[in-house]
Amino acid sequence: MAVGACSASAQTEVVNLTAEQQAAYDNIMTRTSIRSWEARAVEPGKVEMLLRAAMAAPTAMNKQPWHFVVLDKRESIDLLATGRGGGMVRKAPLAIVVCGDMEKAIEGQGRDYWVQDASAATENLLLAVNALGLGAVWTGVYPITERVNAVKSALQLSENLIPLCTILIGYPHESPAPKDKWKPENVTHK
Ligand SMILES: Cc1cc2nc3c(=O)[nH]c(=O)nc-3n(C[C@H](O)[C@H](O)[C@H](O)COP(=O)(O)O)c2cc1C
Repeated sequence: MAVGACSASAQTEVVNLTAEQQAAYDNIMTRTSIRSWEARAVEPGKVEMLLRAAMAAPTAMNKQPWHFVVLDKRESIDLLATGRGGGMVRKAPLAIVVCGDMEKAIEGQGRDYWVQDASAATENLLLAVNALGLGAVWTGVYPITERVNAVKSALQLSENLIPLCTILIGYPHESPAPKDKWKPENVTHK
């Protein structure tokens, strides 16, 4: 049995975990944004594992209202290197653009659930990145209209697709410590 440790700050109660439970929990707690990568490609098998993890996320009414654009060639990735953060994009060996697909979204009031659905997929993907020894950063696109239009036009996305974010991925060339974000004051018990 491993002894559960949430973060740098002391845990009030010790929880006994199996090694597998501890490893799964640690994968969540050690994920951190990586913005510098080695100049080597991510293997296609790993790319598929990332996409499978993304699509395993929960979605409202199980609509899965998403589409993933994989950019694994230098010239394709560099299409995203417009404006702020362009230098980082040009050094990323892989980029995955997570899009909402409005043809698959719920009609009416529930339409905007696509943002939560695609965000859940993004976090799943980031956790898979960490589990596979890769590093990534989520770069925001939606709801900034200028960025949405820039990505749509750079990648010539069809009208039904709205880019939520671009995830830049590769083998880490930095090892920043995960941030301790535990704040008990953010929790209310009732
Ligand atoms: C919606 C969203 C948009 C983000 N946009 C950017 C971005 O444009 N550029 C960037 O370097 N990081 C971006 N990030 C990453 C955050 O800066 C990062 O997650 C935050 O500082 C916490 O650090 P951590 O990921 O290491 O825990 C974004 C994260 C989210 C969730």
